[in-house]
Amino acid sequence: MEPTIHRGLAGVYFDTSHICHIDGERGELIYRGYDISELTDASYEEVVHLLWRGELPTRDELSAFRQELAPLFALPDGVIEALRNLPKDTDPMHALRSAVSLLAAYDEDPDGVDDTNVRRIGASLLVRFPALVATFERLRRDLPPVTPDPELTIAGNFLYMLSGEAPSEAATRVMDVALVLHAEHGSNASTFVARSTASSLTDTYSAITAAVGSLKGPLHGGANAAVMKALEAIGSVEAVEQYVLDTLADPKGRVMGFGHRVYRVLDPRAAILRGVSERLAEESGDSTWFEMSLEMERVMDREMEKKGRQIKANVDFFSASVYRMLGFPSDQYTPIFAVARISGWMAHLYEQYADNSLTRPRIHYLGETGKRFVPIDERG
Ligand code: COA
Repeated sequence: MEPTIHRGLAGVYFDTSHICHIDGERGELIYRGYDISELTDASYEEVVHLLWRGELPTRDELSAFRQELAPLFALPDGVIEALRNLPKDTDPMHALRSAVSLLAAYDEDPDGVDDTNVRRIGASLLVRFPALVATFERLRRDLPPVTPDPELTIAGNFLYMLSGEAPSEAATRVMDVALVLHAEHGSNASTFVARSTASSLTDTYSAITAAVGSLKGPLHGGANAAVMKALEAIGSVEAVEQYVLDTLADPKGRVMGFGHRVYRVLDPRAAILRGVSERLAEESGDSTWFEMSLEMERVMDREMEKKGRQIKANVDFFSASVYRMLGFPSDQYTPIFAVARISGWMAHLYEQYADNSLTRPRIHYLGETGKRFVPIDERG
């Protein structure tokens, strides 16, 4: 009997989870019972506590969590040296993926997959991701790495370690919102990769290294950088419409930042980031990127309506203009996504290691059978 093929595992449930729920028809995203719109005033650390421990922290629990994290920011000297030795034009995602893999060599117990050890590694990766991204950014600009400030939050430290200057409260808040919105999203490609990799009971670093590689792709986390590349190439609000029409006229054309495997309506994260982008545009007095984004959304909506389809903006669409207005170079957008998603990946690894089942699906063979071996000298 021919098996039913689910290409790309679309619609397949491979396990159960208590971390996150997505209702693609209603456009809802829920972290452990909280609709994402409830969490936009929370700090990233509060949301990580929620994802990892199941509850929002009390004030005392939050301060204990922050104290636990503060000493973990510092990177091993060998990892900083390795980042320093990379060619300056290395894509920051290649740098991040390589550095995460290398961290295992400096860990006292990289391989233990018991809950205590995996959570210890998770806490260090949570703060070392921003440290790695910021350190490579400094080094490639010939600037010395910045020592993290234990008084600052993860969002604040990330900005501080990038610029070397105390971040404004407003910029820290925007970064917190971006980190919260990107923290977790169920069984997306990179999280599935993390869980599948861990399912052989290999170590946390291997699973997270694989996840970073998956996130980098333009159909996943790499889309935010692709959105900005497109906006830069378009150049003006007036040119947006033709760009969208030309892209849609190509059967393989994709307007980056639109469409989603699960959402059939607007991604709720895009709606929140649209508001953030609008506010930043007003505050900065430069609304170019926001206006171009709005125009792209308008033309896409109109064109999709004509085709009777729902291909709406996703989280990567408005994050591009937000990061641009915060002053990030576009090849840092996907690393920022990774700085946020490390918390979701780790939440899933805690579940995976606690109740593991080897991921081993089947693939349907369509090739030949029954061929006979002919010795090489007789093959002609
Ligand atoms: N632009 C134009 N058309 C799109 C589109 C986009 N961004 N996204 C989907 N479509 C169209 C496809 O052309 C296809 O049309 P067809 O049925 O006529 O061939 C149809 O919608 C289904 O697309 P498909 O790629 O098979 O769906 P999917 O569920 O695999 O796609 C994505 C999900 C995210 C890979 C896809 O929407 C995409 O490539 N988006 C752009 C990249 C992006 O923003 N990624 C970040 C996701 S958070």
